[in-house]
Amino acid sequence: MSESSQSRPVKVTVTGAAGNIAYSLLWRIASGDVFGKDVPVELALLEIPAATRAAEGVAMELGDSAFPLLCGITVTDSADTAFDGANAAFLVGAKPRGKGMERADLLAENGRIFGPQGKAIGEHAASDIKVVVVGNPANTNALIAAHHAQDVPAERFTALMRLDHNRALSQLAQKLDCQVGDLSRVAVWGNHSATQFPDLTFAEVAGSPVDVDQSWYTDEFIPRVAKRGAEIIDVRGSSSAASAASAAVDHMRDWVQGSDGWATAAVVSDGSYGVDEGLIAGFPTIARDGRYEIVQGLELSDFQRQRIEASVAELRAEREAVGDLLG
Ligand code: NAD
Ligand code: LMR
Repeated sequence: MSESSQSRPVKVTVTGAAGNIAYSLLWRIASGDVFGKDVPVELALLEIPAATRAAEGVAMELGDSAFPLLCGITVTDSADTAFDGANAAFLVGAKPRGKGMERADLLAENGRIFGPQGKAIGEHAASDIKVVVVGNPANTNALIAAHHAQDVPAERFTALMRLDHNRALSQLAQKLDCQVGDLSRVAVWGNHSATQFPDLTFAEVAGSPVDVDQSWYTDEFIPRVAKRGAEIIDVRGSSSAASAASAAVDHMRDWVQGSDGWATAAVVSDGSYGVDEGLIAGFPTIARDGRYEIVQGLELSDFQRQRIEASVAELRAEREAVGDLLG
């Protein structure tokens, strides 16, 4: 018997399974990129009734890909069924924004998806469930889901800001003419929105401090990274999908297997760095022992504090706007 057939499968739920992001994400999960090359995976695909047939087609293609680690696929429109026994969940299913919209414009419509899914997670998922919310506005949607998931510790609900992190790495590597892998101690604070703060204060290239001119940093780098989602929508004609899926893979892989140094994740705040306790915000984190830990002990300048506060103020306002979903 091979080693893989001896390991217990990890049960993974992906919502929005017939959508664009899932069409990249599912293949990476099934190939072992997230949970390990020797860990069998059982997939549960959740869709709305109108899209379950398309999700069946996605499941057929996954089967046709003959992944040795993929040991089962369920397609359903029932959240209770989809999250039953789930060890990990990617909450992708939600409407994407179009040109000229901000992500917060989706809050009223998408926010109501996450209460029932959080409830179903609380009632049916495995005790070690790890959730990453991708659907926008991701931070506040994660807050809503966590609120409804009775008896699940809030730190099991995270939101995807690894895409912002990866965008920051890519922009910086281009500027310094180096490899992304040479860079460390980069982080993105706050909300997955245009107010986010991609922070290079502590950044290093090949172990030495990064030295870039201030005007490039504040006038080009920060807005470029913060508005990259809108730039992709403008140029590609639709919202980022493969890069979002890849970032979701990075986020969950590090959470499960540990990170090499700093990575950005939106996690529940414990009050660190003046971020209100309970908000789900981007922080510099290190993933180890199956947990995302906020990097502690950083000395922040006034500039950093102001940038972080501006994004946290937006998260506070979003939380207020969805007060009816948190009641
Ligand atoms: P898409 O429209 O291609 O797919 C979304 C899918 O979700 C559709 O198939 C739809 O039927 C399904 N869906 C809607 N409501 C659902 C529900 N209640 N349960 C299950 N499925 C449901 O969109 P996409 O491009 O895959 O993007 C999905 C979301 O991810 C959007 O909100 C987008 O803005 C967001 N996004 C976030 C990031 C990030 O970094 N956090 C990056 C890219 C996109
Ligand atoms: C992104 O950052 O690409 C996504 O959140 C999609 C969007 O609306 O920008």
